[in-house]
Amino acid sequence: MAAEVIEFLVTRTDGDFVDCTMGSGGHAHRILLNAPGGRLLGIDVDGSAFEQAEARLSEFGERFELTMGNFAELTSIAREHGFEHADGVLFDLGFSSRQLDDPARGLSFTTSGPIDMRLDQTTGETARQLIARSNERELSRVLFEFGEERRAHPIARSIIESRDRGRLETTHDLAAAILATKPSRRQKTLARCFMALRIAVNDELESLRRGLEEAVELLRPGGRLVAISYHSLEDTIVKRHFVRCEKPCTCPREIPECACGRKPTLRIITRRIVRPKESEVAANPRARSAKLRVAEKLGPGEEP
Ligand SMILES: C[S@@+](CC[C@H](N)C(=O)[O-])C[C@H]1O[C@@H](n2cnc3c(N)ncnc32)[C@H](O)[C@@H]1O
Repeated sequence: MAAEVIEFLVTRTDGDFVDCTMGSGGHAHRILLNAPGGRLLGIDVDGSAFEQAEARLSEFGERFELTMGNFAELTSIAREHGFEHADGVLFDLGFSSRQLDDPARGLSFTTSGPIDMRLDQTTGETARQLIARSNERELSRVLFEFGEERRAHPIARSIIESRDRGRLETTHDLAAAILATKPSRRQKTLARCFMALRIAVNDELESLRRGLEEAVELLRPGGRLVAISYHSLEDTIVKRHFVRCEKPCTCPREIPECACGRKPTLRIITRRIVRPKESEVAANPRARSAKLRVAEKLGPGEEP
C-alpha cells in the first residue's frame, strides 16, 4: 500500500520520518523520494535486510540512517539517533515475504526448517523452546489467545504428545502434529497455529501496544502515525489505541463536565480502514489482509 502510505504519511517534504519496520526499505525509499528535504530513520528488529535496504537507499546520501532495534523502544532509539521528534511514523507490521521464505526462520509450514520463529535471531526464546517448557494448558492458551484457534485443546495435546515422543524437530513435524487432529480447514488451522506461536515468541502484541504509545509521544503536532496490520488482533490494538487517544476521558457519562482532565492526543484520519486495491492484491496476494489506519497528533489544547 505504498501509494496510500505516502499520501497519508508525507505531509511535509522536509519532515523527519521514522520507519519502524524497515525490512528491505521499500516504503522508506518512497518516503525519501517524496520528501526531498526530509530525513528518515529506519528501525527493524531483524537487520538481515539492511544491506539490501542500504543499497536501495544509497541515492539519498546522508538523509537516512538504519538501526537494529525493537519499536517497543521507539522514543529512546529515535532520540539516540538525533530524532527528538518526528513528522511521520510508519508501522508495516508482521514479517516480510523474505523472512517467511527463509526456512531457517521456521515461520512457514510449507518448507521444513527449525521451529525457531524469532524475528530477531540473536536473542530470546525459540518456538521450540517455548513448546519444550509449556504444558498442555499453557500451549492451548497461546493457540487460543494469539491464533483465535477454537480447537486449541486437542491441537496443544497433539503437539505435546509429539514433543514427548521426541518427534518435534522441524516445522514439518509441527505441522504434522497439528494436522493429526484432523482439522476440517487444514491450511487455515496451520496458519492460525503458526501465527499464534510466532506472536508469542516475539511478544508481538505487547511490542505493538508500547510502540504505538511511544509513537504518539514522538510525533510533533500535525505529525502522522500510519499503521498497516495483517490480522485482527493487531488491527484491534491499533483501532483501540487511536480511539483511546482521541477520546481519553474516563469520566462517567452522567457527569456533565470532564473531571479526569485527560486531553486528546490524536485525531483519527481514517474513520474507515483503508484496504489495498484489487490490482495490488492480484500482484501480491499477501496484501489481501492488509488494513491501514492513520491518525494525526494534536497540539496542546487542540480538539479532534
Ligand atoms: C512487512 S515487513 C516490512 C516491510 C517494509 N515495509 C518494506 O517496505 O520492505 C515487517 C518488518 O517488521 C519487522 N518487525 C516486526 N516486529 C518488529 C518490532 N517489534 N520492532 C522492529 N521491527 C519489527 C520485521 O522484522 C519485518 O522486517
